[in-house]
Amino acid sequence: MSIHKEVKKVTTNTLLKMKANGEKISMLTAYDFSFAKIFDAAGIDVLLVGDSAGNVIAGYETTVPVTLEQMIYHAQCVVRGVSRCLVVVDMPFGTYQSNSDIAVASAIRIMKETGGHSVKLEGGEEVIESIKKIVSAGIPVMGHLGLTPQSIYKFGTYNVRAKEELEAEKLKHDIKLLEAAGCFAVVLEKIPAALAKEVTASVSIPTIGIGAGGDCDGQVLVMHDMLGINSEFKPRFLRQYLNLEKQIDVAVKQYVADVKSNDFPNESESY
Ligand code: KIV
Repeated sequence: MSIHKEVKKVTTNTLLKMKANGEKISMLTAYDFSFAKIFDAAGIDVLLVGDSAGNVIAGYETTVPVTLEQMIYHAQCVVRGVSRCLVVVDMPFGTYQSNSDIAVASAIRIMKETGGHSVKLEGGEEVIESIKKIVSAGIPVMGHLGLTPQSIYKFGTYNVRAKEELEAEKLKHDIKLLEAAGCFAVVLEKIPAALAKEVTASVSIPTIGIGAGGDCDGQVLVMHDMLGINSEFKPRFLRQYLNLEKQIDVAVKQYVADVKSNDFPNESESY
């Protein structure tokens, strides 16, 4: 008899079936064991070990400095907390853009060293050789189009992408390339809802939106944003489900007061 509880794991095939059946996909970022465990138990379908770790964990201004070692560490922590979710691990800047051999070597390291189930990388035609090679190695790939934060210095701002015809046409072309290359899903970040609706209908693989309207096949948010840990960040697309920053502030102030007043620990909290 197995000591492991039987759970129906989410796979890349599950996501394809969910799209075909019109069932929406829920995805959240996670960077550590404790939150991954809570999110997995709460019924999230996909956990993304995002390179947004660079912003919300490390405090960098952009995701550009994030390293493969850092992503591997976060992914290892998340995987230990998961029993049901599909875990997607972001490939950080510099680990797949320059050459498809480096890309496949980076993806193999992520898979072997973390136990994650798939990788995500940003871009369309420019990185298609890398995607093909990673998929050929048997590693599931999630694409990422629209606002691709690793290219922030090319874009100059985090504004909505593909509002102009030329960029919208490129995105329509790119998503077809990603589908043909074998991606199992694509994140669409900060693009007009009408464009997201059109490209979602044009492919058989699921689209996961963030700031891309309600017609994507699923939605993703950064956990710190939706839990209100970083309450200064309030983009239009964000729904904040908690104000954890405020709640933590109240709790920590109370703890400080209790320690200072010698109220904590009391007798029942002592041995
Ligand atoms: O790194 C990340 O958190 C992401 C999401 C914003 C999709 O790529």
